[in-house]
Amino acid sequence: MAGLTHPNLVVLTGAGLSAESGVPTFRGSDGLWEGYRVEEVASPGAFKQTPELVHRFYNMRRASLKEVQPNAAHHALVRLEKEWPGSFLHVTQNVDDLNERAGAKKLLHMHGELKKVRCTGCRAVFTWEEDLDKYTPCPECRVTGTLRPDIVWFGEMPYYIEEITRALETVDIFICIGTSGVVYPAAGFARLAVEKGASRLIEINLEATEITSHFTEQRHGAASVEVPRLVGQLLSELA
Ligand code: APR
Repeated sequence: MAGLTHPNLVVLTGAGLSAESGVPTFRGSDGLWEGYRVEEVASPGAFKQTPELVHRFYNMRRASLKEVQPNAAHHALVRLEKEWPGSFLHVTQNVDDLNERAGAKKLLHMHGELKKVRCTGCRAVFTWEEDLDKYTPCPECRVTGTLRPDIVWFGEMPYYIEEITRALETVDIFICIGTSGVVYPAAGFARLAVEKGASRLIEINLEATEITSHFTEQRHGAASVEVPRLVGQLLSELA
């Protein structure tokens, strides 16, 4: 980082960021995918065949957002966003709204959002707080059975890929927090950042991951502790 006064920063986050708020992660012993088969609830085929099950799964997750709050890691990332002198982009795979509730603005939800639904017919997108079922009419076109969670399912193309790729073209510092690094394309961003010349790559996770080898620094520990610590260090290095 020597010599760079306005380094460009990209942060990629995953389920580990929200774990300490009480939002379950996906993999691991008590992860969400332990209780569900992914293809039963998170695929376009499942939505076609058993929409009741898919709606129940996402209704449950949407409702559970009312029980959780942002933790120290979400707040620290917002501090970084506000105080960082170079360009800043936070790309999250998380579909919860905890970053926004902490005040995040420069944030892209590459896997969609629990609090949004969209119509597969007229393509309108709506903010949605309540339960949804296959009889809920689209507020725009009034057709029933077409509203779905605005979530990127397996086999679908994540959102904002062009914007993210553009940010990675000029990234100086790449930070990856709480992701297992097994779901692509997000899992490929660290490697891309290396190829594009990022000089500092920092991974925060409880443990080593599939993508750990791409990082110049690994910080093992809970996000609520390690993220505020890292943010404090990065900002004081610039001062
Ligand atoms: N602090 C830091 N890291 C943590 C914490 C914590 N408190 N708790 C868990 N982790 C780490 C785990 O060690 C694991 O590496 O967070 C990671 C969570 O991994 P996953 O459950 O696989 O979540 P994620 O990487 O976000 O999943 C990617 O998979 O199913 C899809 O679309 C879903 O966006 C999701 C994608």
